[in-house]
Amino acid sequence: MIRQAIIPLAGLGTRLLPLTSVYAKELLPINGKAGLEYIIDECLDAGIKEIIFIISKKKEIIRKYFYNDKFYQKIIRKKKDLRIIKEYKKIKKYKKIIKFVYQNNPKGTGHAVLKAKNLIRDKFFLMLLPDDLIIKRNCSKDMISIHNKKKCSVMASMKVQKRTVNRWGIFSKRKYINKNNFYIKDVVEKPDIKSAPSNNAVIGRYILSKKIFKKLQNQKKGKGGEIHITDSIRRLINDGETFVGHNFIGKYLDCGTMEGYIKSSIEIYKT
Ligand code: G1P
Repeated sequence: MIRQAIIPLAGLGTRLLPLTSVYAKELLPINGKAGLEYIIDECLDAGIKEIIFIISKKKEIIRKYFYNDKFYQKIIRKKKDLRIIKEYKKIKKYKKIIKFVYQNNPKGTGHAVLKAKNLIRDKFFLMLLPDDLIIKRNCSKDMISIHNKKKCSVMASMKVQKRTVNRWGIFSKRKYINKNNFYIKDVVEKPDIKSAPSNNAVIGRYILSKKIFKKLQNQKKGKGGEIHITDSIRRLINDGETFVGHNFIGKYLDCGTMEGYIKSSIEIYKT
């Protein structure tokens, strides 16, 4: 059973400056709702019972967003606004399942995930990258049901344009299980076009085994001097650990770039 999720949130969000100079990119509204809430809702709907937020001192605003009880109470006491009461109840529900861990010196996704090591109880956990929104279908839920059948690690996958492979983790496939799922042979972080094994990219939904922490503990820096989760996953695959790639059904929205962020509001508005 997958009960815990990790969400790395310590990134600086430089691709969304100036919006992120004083605000957390994950709280920016997407069609009137904080981007992070879409990710939390995906987790809750997939049966997740605890979410670990990896934040930093610079991102305390995220903690405040979920711990602002007094502010809500004051307003609700003054006027019984049903919409605000509903929002407050929702925030309180979120607060109950969120734990915070700090990564004050962000050194990459792998480095972030390692910070949650002592909080993970089960053999497998879910990890979501908040820049990647997937709408119209709960990707985490589908991945959990694959995991329940195969009892292995699972990663979300999507075909991308060949000329953009150096922006993603890229898979090579071993064998198809069915139309939407395949066994992963290898994965490389941001390869150049010439050496990319395919144009099947890693998208930010992962079901990982606890064994990943051992690899992360001695993971050397990779592309761009960062500790990448992809590099540790690669080492686990080399050790014989089974990883399934899942071509998800929903629509992908890249909220980590300004263009993608603007488009995501329009796309969600249309649904
Ligand atoms: C991260 C991962 C990469 C993955 C991507 C998906 O990259 O390192 O493997 O393809 O997320 O969004 P980042 O977006 O942090 O550069």
